[in-house]
Amino acid sequence: MTSSPRAPRSTGAPRRLHLNAFLMTGGHHEAAWRLPGADPRAGTDVDHFIDLARTAERGTFDAIFFADSPVLGAEVGRRPSGGLEPLTLLSAIAVATERIGLIATASTSYNSPYNLARRFASLDHISHGRVGWNIVTTATLDAARNFGLEELPAHEDRYRRAEEFLDVVRSLWSGWEADAVLADQEAAVWGDAAKVHATNHVGTYYRVAGPLNVQRSPQVHPVLVQAGSSEAGRDLAARTAEAVFTAHQRLEDAVAFAADVRRRAVAHGRDPEGVKILPGLVPVIGATEAEAWEKERELNDLVHPRYALTQLTRTLRLPEGSLGLEDRLPEDLPTEDQIEGAKSRYTLIVDLARREDLTVRELIGRLAGGRGHRTLAGTPEQIADALQSWFEAGAADGFNIMPAVLPSGLTEFVDQVVPILRERGLFRTEYEATTLRGHYGLGLPTEPERTAAPSAAPPAPGFGRPLAEAGTR
Ligand SMILES: Cc1cc2nc3c(=O)[nH]c(=O)nc-3n(C[C@H](O)[C@H](O)[C@H](O)COP(=O)(O)O)c2cc1C
Repeated sequence: MTSSPRAPRSTGAPRRLHLNAFLMTGGHHEAAWRLPGADPRAGTDVDHFIDLARTAERGTFDAIFFADSPVLGAEVGRRPSGGLEPLTLLSAIAVATERIGLIATASTSYNSPYNLARRFASLDHISHGRVGWNIVTTATLDAARNFGLEELPAHEDRYRRAEEFLDVVRSLWSGWEADAVLADQEAAVWGDAAKVHATNHVGTYYRVAGPLNVQRSPQVHPVLVQAGSSEAGRDLAARTAEAVFTAHQRLEDAVAFAADVRRRAVAHGRDPEGVKILPGLVPVIGATEAEAWEKERELNDLVHPRYALTQLTRTLRLPEGSLGLEDRLPEDLPTEDQIEGAKSRYTLIVDLARREDLTVRELIGRLAGGRGHRTLAGTPEQIADALQSWFEAGAADGFNIMPAVLPSGLTEFVDQVVPILRERGLFRTEYEATTLRGHYGLGLPTEPERTAAPSAAPPAPGFGRPLAEAGTR
């Protein structure tokens, strides 16, 4: 299948795929760390991640991406767990790479807007404008317990907090006008205070005075990415996100999701082209189809079924020990409405099992590669065909490529699949931009309307003293 990409859009430029490398220490497959030759300790090895980033940059990927949750999780006995905090890790990668985008996950439930705005603005400077933020609300009780909470905050509440969090950080990032720094050594004037604006936010969850103590960064805002496909997640994406990470097993579901997010974006007065939809794909590449299948089988055979069963039981909110490997899922599982954790992934897993009438053992096998993301074992041509068909059907603007095994799976993709995509005119042959916004074809955020000079703005109630006095270190 080598038809040319969908007709050029109004910009006149051919529509091209966007590719992110979603990196997990040894790969996305649950058992990748057990393969002969794998390094089970690579999770704290900065050089491992720098090598991966350079491979992705050689393949002219738009970005690398790290997931994150502020919790160790319950799997430490079972697979490599814990690791480096993404913004810190990306600071090191930023100075070892030149063009590739750098996307870090950070939670709106367990960060403060001022601190996080400051870190992202700093990394945007350090990387010369290559940063993106994967906005998540964090769906686990174990994480809540690390922040003084005994219960997982309600789903609705987490998303409301996320909306307000975003209003605050966007205001902080936009607080410095483009010409606020004069750096006039002659006149002894460093900056124009009238062009550095306070935030003065007083809301339900946050009170933040501002301004931010980091100068306007190259992209002004990092590229805003959203990952969580529940109703509330889609709304957040439609209002805010410039890229959406999502998981789908079937083309028709992905097409419907993309159409829905674009429709919601239009309802928020946005250009739907300004929201890049990027489903995940776990490729397992072989010289022949049989070789690829054999690789996948070898990986699946290394999965420890007892551990995987415990994990699935937790995900489905069932009592420990209540599921057998040869069982089908029980009929009376909770509906998505009753789930306060990760709603959309829960539904995806239950739907997959029911639709294909899978036993628990089979379901575990299907989730082993990418936790619900689509896994595809095939030749480089078959992988390229799969990407192209979803792209042309309107299901995706690009993909999160999630190699089952790292580093080998990324190297194979870059050396074997990327050349096919380039040949078909579907993917760039070299970087045309220097920032992540540029790679995604996104403009700078619109400047906020300025209503008053900063000196005239009232201090936020509850902060005690006027902003002008608050500058001590
Ligand atoms: C590609 C991808 C990556 C994600 N990475 C994270 C992550 O790093 N941390 C996190 O807490 N949630 C992450 N999520 C989002 C969770 O799946 C999300 O919190 C969950 O789906 C709940 O959102 P929902 O209830 O809106 O479905 C990711 C989702 C996708 C599709």
